[in-house]
Amino acid sequence: MSYEITKVEKGKKVNFKNPAKEFYEALGLDGMRKLMYNFYDKIYESEIAHFFPQDEDEFNEIKVKNTKFFIQICGGPKVYEEESRGVELNEFMVRLHDDFSITEKSRYEWLGTMEEALRECDVSQELKDDFWDYLENFSKLTVNTFSDQSKYYASL
Ligand code: HEM
Repeated sequence: MSYEITKVEKGKKVNFKNPAKEFYEALGLDGMRKLMYNFYDKIYESEIAHFFPQDEDEFNEIKVKNTKFFIQICGGPKVYEEESRGVELNEFMVRLHDDFSITEKSRYEWLGTMEEALRECDVSQELKDDFWDYLENFSKLTVNTFSDQSKYYASL
């Protein structure tokens, strides 16, 4: 697995599939937490750290919410339901990112950071590949700022 990244094409429909439930089942709650906390610890030292809260408590809150989201998107218990307030989960997540000016370069940094965390995670390569496929595609929907300074907010 090469953790390949394909480019965003502005305005082009993005096809993605939610991750396999087996990914969550293999990791369990503790494994999922470990992966996501490790990811955010790396984000803190990344090129995109400035996007995130610098206050420790606020940053920890993001870690908790992020872990809940990923548990639910993998088909685990609906622990993020309260946050998404009845809005369909993927739609909610795309719209949440509209508040930030996210470029392709930021997406590469985000994915590169996730790749590092995934490489340190103890789960089969097959499940990592499936999870990566979701991340690589879905992350295209979070990119809303382009090199000509134009904005485009993707829809599902
Ligand atoms: C597969 C793609 C992605 C997924 C599934 C995802 C998921 C999430 C989740 C679950 C949260 C926490 C939501 C909450 O507060 O309830 C979040 C917040 C955030 N994400 Fe993403 N994200 C993705 C891509 C990106 C990318 C590429 C960036 C680029 C910078 C990014 C930047 C942020 C920022 C800035 C926040 C909010 C921090 C704050 O509330 O201050 N995300 N994301």
